[in-house]
Amino acid sequence: MRIDIISCVPQLMTSPLSHSILKRAQDQGQLEVHVHDLRDFSINKHRQVDDYPYGGGAGMVLMVEPLAKCIRSLQTERKYDEVIYLTPDGTSLKQGIANQLSLKENLILIAGHYKGIDQRARDIFVTMELSIGDYVLSGGELPALVLVDAIGRLIPGVLGDETSALTDSFQDNLLDAPIYTRPADFEGHEVPEILLSGQHKKIQEWRDERSLEKTRERRPDLIDED
Ligand code: ADE
Repeated sequence: MRIDIISCVPQLMTSPLSHSILKRAQDQGQLEVHVHDLRDFSINKHRQVDDYPYGGGAGMVLMVEPLAKCIRSLQTERKYDEVIYLTPDGTSLKQGIANQLSLKENLILIAGHYKGIDQRARDIFVTMELSIGDYVLSGGELPALVLVDAIGRLIPGVLGDETSALTDSFQDNLLDAPIYTRPADFEGHEVPEILLSGQHKKIQEWRDERSLEKTRERRPDLIDED
């Protein structure tokens, strides 16, 4: 899969893409991430990419021309499945959307200023708008990275254990059961005995029960029990 990210602060993206699972996915050739500096597509020598909003108001708005130039230059190279704009007024990102996007070939992600991008760029180029939560961040860079991580780890072969992404919280609309590792006793706080028993069926039942219990308690909205 190839992901092209358009940003006017591309430096923000460097570290999260150069470590851990996202680095491995790129090293192994399962994921290609290209970050494009929107200023390289500016229409003037000042490398300007934003301007004041028509009608007044606080904050700057990313202009349509640099975005159009950048997106069109990418689209002449290959066909993109989606052009995704990260914005607090987008559809809430859920595991199901990440699952679907992990099956695509080529994606463009647009990271905007907190005040956003010119509406015409959304109307003309954007095919999907996603929010990572009901709070406003100072730009779309961190949300874009969140999306790349959520998608990247689902690409077959990226995670060492093929099944591990499928057993994550949310894959079945349930939160994960509690998890423990050594020591079995930490200052009198013991690991539940069942987990030490070696009885796999019983352990699975225990995990399923805890999972359901935790979801009912913390996220009843995920369960549709009639
Ligand atoms: N840009 C700023 N805040 C955001 C959010 N919550 N989700 C996606 N993009 C954003």
